[in-house]
This record gives sequence, structure tokens and C-alpha cells, in this order.
Amino acid sequence: MIISIEEALEHLKSEDVVAIPTETVYGLAGLITSEKALKKIFEVKKRPFFDPLIVHVTDTSQAQGLTSEWPLIAEKLAEKYWPGPLTLVLRKRKLVSDLITAGLERVGIRCPQHPVAQEILNKLKIPLAAPSANLFGHTSPTLAQHVESEFQSQIPVVEGGASSIGIESTVLLIDQDEIAILRPGHILAQEIEDYLKAQNISFKWKAQITKSESPGHMKHHYMPSKPLFWVEGKIPSDILETLNLKLRELPDQVEGVQIQKPSSLKTYSLLQFSSSPQNAARSLYSELRRLAEGPADCLIFQYQSFMSQPEWAPVLERLRKASSIVIKTSS
Ligand code: TXA
Ligand code: MG
Repeated sequence: MIISIEEALEHLKSEDVVAIPTETVYGLAGLITSEKALKKIFEVKKRPFFDPLIVHVTDTSQAQGLTSEWPLIAEKLAEKYWPGPLTLVLRKRKLVSDLITAGLERVGIRCPQHPVAQEILNKLKIPLAAPSANLFGHTSPTLAQHVESEFQSQIPVVEGGASSIGIESTVLLIDQDEIAILRPGHILAQEIEDYLKAQNISFKWKAQITKSESPGHMKHHYMPSKPLFWVEGKIPSDILETLNLKLRELPDQVEGVQIQKPSSLKTYSLLQFSSSPQNAARSLYSELRRLAEGPADCLIFQYQSFMSQPEWAPVLERLRKASSIVIKTSS
């Protein structure tokens, strides 16, 4: 069901959840002050409670109200990249529910750029927790209709057109003067590094990230409703025989994420991307959904050597996790 911004505000104020557009992907939003809404987000997504939610704010001062520290690195990065696709993970204040942070000491915060998300946050004056509006482990939504088909129209959605970036925000942990990318995104590590250096801010890349600092990292994620295979090298004419054999060896589930295992694969569709990594990111999730709804039994992504450029890393990270199997054929 498509609803207006005013209706979304009513739903949110009465502690319900609604899907809202952002420039990265659509989010399943609820008030951070409502335990009822937060619980519903996890329930609707079938998401495990150990995977923390990102909090969306209207501006830097609202973010500061949620954190017990606001280091210069955060100040500078927010100044440069907010509103936009950068999530900052910082030490939280007590008022931020443990449901949001999965019991961690830090909270992930971002200020979205999409005008609809901005208007909703401005009018509410309360931050919104919002994970991507898809079932846990599935392909993220970049159109209102993706959300509708994902939840069989049970979740009201505010229409906001196609998400212009198309993949989730870059998640950056800030630990005093150390930083770490917890999830790659549109804003690249190199860009962050160049910018902080140009601002004469001292920082170091954190050497290691512990599992507890980044709990939401599954081996499989973003998976379409039909198996996707990552192929490096040529696609031989008997590829489907290989894929059938490999698929049978896989478990039904990995870390709670269901692996699609049709009984036999007879046909495939090849994922096609533009040579621009930004355009590829924009069309990635729509293409995964479109091809999975088509007649083929499975999808193939063929890795190309030009994708070794760092700008491709965020798209490749999604494709690798969306793939059931990565195989190398002779080239
Ligand atoms: O672009 C985005 O970030 C979208 C839109 C809706 O804003 N949101 C999104 O949320 O991708 P979600 O829930 O699908 O991904 C959140 C991920 C977690 O799985 C985890 O990897 C990381 O962000 N994260 C969030 N809070 C964290 C925290 N406190 N510590 C470490 N990682 C955190
Ligand atoms: Mg997600």
C-alpha cells in the first residue's frame, strides 16, 4: 500500500513501522523511542537481534544527542558527507535502546539525503531506526514496488522513486583517532582518507576489526530468490552441469540465511552491467530482482577484469555475498 508522507507520520507516531525511500535503498522505519516499533522491524524482516540497526537523523545536532562522543573526525566527515550515504558508528548514549545496537556500546547513525526521508525526519523531530526494507538475507529494495512485493503489501510504503545510489551506505567505525570501514559503499575508503588528510586531521586505519565490532556481517546476504553464481573466466557450454553439482553440495542455510536450491537448473540469465560502477550500483538490486522474477532457473554474474578498480569494490562485495557459489573456469 502506497501512503502519503502525512499518513507515514501518523503511522510512525502511533509506533508502527513504514517503508521510506532513501538515496541508498528503501528503509523499514520506526521511532527509536518505541520498543514496539523496534521489535516489529526485527519481526517483519525476520532479522536476528544480534544485527544492529542504523539510526537516521535530520542533522548533526540530532546525531550528537545520541552519542556520548563527537570527535573531530566525525564532525568533519558529517560536514562533508551529510546528508548522504555515510553511516558513522560512534559511542552511544544510554537513551539509545540496546535493541538498536544489538547490545553494543556504539550506534550507527546517518543523515539521509532523499527529500522524502528528510521531510519525514524534519517533521517527526525524533530519529528513525531503519534497516533496508527486505527480508533478512534478501536483495535490498530500490523501488517502492520492491518493498510491496517483498512484504506482500503488508507494509505501507512512501513512494520516492528509484534510489539514486542503489547500494547501502558506507559504514565507518570511529574509535578515537582510529577508523575502519565496516561495510563498503558509495563513499570509498580512499575518498575518506584523502579528505581527512586535506583537512589535516590525524587518523589511522584500524588494523583489525573484531566480530563484536561488526556483528552484522554474514557470509551470504542480498540473495535473490533464485541462485546466483559468480563466474570468473569463460562460461563453458556445460556450465549448468557444474552448477547443478555444486549447488547440491551446499547446505540449505548458512548463518540463518536460506540458500535457494531448485531441484535442477536448466537455464540461466546473465547479469549485465554498465561499465560505470556508479551506474552498476544503481541498477544492481533491480536487476537481481528482475532476472530472478524471469523464466531462467538461475542467474550468472561474470566477473570482468575492469572490475578490479577500487570503485567496483562495493558492488562486488554485494554480488559476492548474493552469490551461492564463486567458481573459476579456465579463461
Ligand atoms: O544505506 C543504508 O545504510 C540503509 C538505508 C535504509 O539507510 N540501511 C541499511 O541498514 O543498510 P541495514 O540494517 O540493512 O544494515 C545495517 C548494517 C548492519 O548489518 C551492520 O553491518 C552495520 O550496518 N551496523 C549498524 N549499526 C552498527 C553498530 N552499532 N556497530 C557495527 N555495525 C553496525
Ligand atoms: Mg540490509
